[in-house]
Amino acid sequence: MRALVAAHRGDRGALLPILHRIQAEFGYVDSDVVPVLAAELNISRADVHGVVTFYSDFRSEPAGRTVLKLCRAEACQSVGAEQLVAHAERVLGIKTGQTTPDGSVTLEQVFCLGNCALGPAGQVNDRVRGRLSPARLESLLKGAAS
Ligand code: FES
Repeated sequence: MRALVAAHRGDRGALLPILHRIQAEFGYVDSDVVPVLAAELNISRADVHGVVTFYSDFRSEPAGRTVLKLCRAEACQSVGAEQLVAHAERVLGIKTGQTTPDGSVTLEQVFCLGNCALGPAGQVNDRVRGRLSPARLESLLKGAAS
């Protein structure tokens, strides 16, 4: 990680690119990196922590093997997104923002995936899906697990 920091040292606004690289490489931003980045970039720990927690793209823990994101923005809400979220939480046994105890699925919310005409929309790992029903959602999760 120190090499990563060194590559950006002196850049204005180096923190965000470094955090993105850490997230891309490790899948999350461990809390142990906060004091290191603060020292290396000569900024406060509170500033680093604030950025990590402000941006929902940054995880503080490793994600599950499958990341399911369900859209809760207005267009998807109007076609059943909230019921779909409730179904996903029930089936997975977790709340939005959590990962199943076996590490298989992380459930997250998003606010528009640009797929409004095909709501309710979601994303399974990197693939956007539309017209999600509870049955289709479960089928996609089974497919992602195999
Ligand atoms: Fe759900 Fe746009 S509102 S994809």
